[in-house]
Amino acid sequence: MSEAANDRTDGSGGGYDRLRLCVNFRAGDILPSCGARGAKELAAALQEKMPDALPEMRLESVHCLGRCHIGPTIRLSPSGPFLQGVQAEDVDFLIEKLKAGDLDALLEAFPDPTKEQAG
Ligand code: FES
Repeated sequence: MSEAANDRTDGSGGGYDRLRLCVNFRAGDILPSCGARGAKELAAALQEKMPDALPEMRLESVHCLGRCHIGPTIRLSPSGPFLQGVQAEDVDFLIEKLKAGDLDALLEAFPDPTKEQAG
């Protein structure tokens, strides 16, 4: 069972109140970064859909979470898991699973390769 398997099923973002998304560009497209890997388009999709779909959850743009090679990087806060590689076309799925509190599905779809996932 993963770290996400808990009782965070209140329908308001899996129990987390912030979705932190790295939108950093490192030296334009020269160095790997979330911005160069789709974060800009992902941010736009989240800004469009989150206010209605997840009104209790705030989108927060941040500049580098130290995972530049495997972004876009999302961290659920406070103290939640990282989600790696979410793209704009995944936003409906992301929102659906957050609303359902199904963090295991999110960790399976967007695993954190820096951390061994159980199961
Ligand atoms: S550029 Fe996003 S984690 Fe570093």
